[in-house]
Amino acid sequence: MSIYRNIVWFAKGMKEYTKNGFAAASKEFNTSDLDVSVTDKSYMITGANSGLGKAAALTLAQKGGIVHLVCRNKERGEEAKTEIIETTGNQNVHLHQLDTSKPRDIYQFAHKFGESGQQLDVLINNAGCMINTRELTEDGLEKNFATNTLGTHILTTALIPILSKSNKPRVIIVSSGGMLTQTLNVTDLQFEKMSKFDGTTAYAQNKRQQIVMTEQYALKYPSIHFSTMHPGWADTPAVQSSMPQFYEKMKTRLRTVEEGADTIVWLAIAENPLKLKSGCFYQDRKIVPTHLPLAWTKSTPEQDQSLMSQLDDLAKKFQSDQQ
Ligand SMILES: NC(=O)c1ccc[n+]([C@@H]2O[C@H](COP(=O)([O-])OP(=O)(O)OC[C@H]3O[C@@H](n4cnc5c(N)ncnc54)[C@H](OP(=O)(O)O)[C@@H]3O)[C@@H](O)[C@H]2O)c1
Repeated sequence: MSIYRNIVWFAKGMKEYTKNGFAAASKEFNTSDLDVSVTDKSYMITGANSGLGKAAALTLAQKGGIVHLVCRNKERGEEAKTEIIETTGNQNVHLHQLDTSKPRDIYQFAHKFGESGQQLDVLINNAGCMINTRELTEDGLEKNFATNTLGTHILTTALIPILSKSNKPRVIIVSSGGMLTQTLNVTDLQFEKMSKFDGTTAYAQNKRQQIVMTEQYALKYPSIHFSTMHPGWADTPAVQSSMPQFYEKMKTRLRTVEEGADTIVWLAIAENPLKLKSGCFYQDRKIVPTHLPLAWTKSTPEQDQSLMSQLDDLAKKFQSDQQ
């Protein structure tokens, strides 16, 4: 990672990504943006048993939406579901067990969801991980890539036919400002050539991939509104366990989960995002640049296409296994 990019990014983070950053940005929020009725809308959130995903799910349930929690661990998922139902009184909260690093399971899940005839208006790809050693899934996929990138791609594309039945479908991808330090690298999607594996770089690269994927989905599926976002630096189990040194230094400055999830909820329910271009990157309810100034991180259209075709090729391999 370039030292210049890291310094500029961290300085930006200290100003914008902390709880003080949220307090400053939220002064410009229009509180009535979230005063919308969502009782006839259906939301699916991955990684909904913890951190930002659970906070967003709880708010959506509080507002009366139909909420589908997609969680890897049944027990943790059940606990979150019970807590959300008890807190909100909304019985329309459903749990689905899915490990989003397992492509075949994602296809099966999407197929079953479609067969059930249930409606889906908004998909929130929130599940994410930063694994600091290079580990492979049972399918031989690098785990960060499998969860953050390929899992997001397969779930999103597999649910497009169901989302397309909605009146105003939306897809939100929870990325990270950490991606600002990275240029898209399409020659090593699974970090086989990284001399010493670095989980932070792998994660930031996945989050850069999510930005490009969102832009490309917006072009390919014009009837669906796509957005991606950075939640800021929020106090969640992922930050505590994957970045212990960062957490120790920053724990008094981190946002609450509700503050981190605010823009996820806004993108999911407010009318304003639908009036803005599809495929953009948001922070604190505003479209923000996807590159730091003078950082030379822009990818070419050919590189963007290469990412998408590599993801499609990998996805097809698992999809055809199903048939
Ligand atoms: N917190 C921040 O400051 C921050 C900043 C930038 C971006 N983000 C992004 O925000 C999103 C939510 O993270 P968080 O901070 O809220 O962390 P978190 O509390 O640890 O939540 C992460 C969620 O993702 C789930 N997950 C991970 N791998 C999965 C898999 N293979 N299949 C299904 N679910 C899986 C986890 O499930 P388990 O409980 O089973 O592990 C958990 O529910 C992530 O995409 C993260 O990259 C967070």
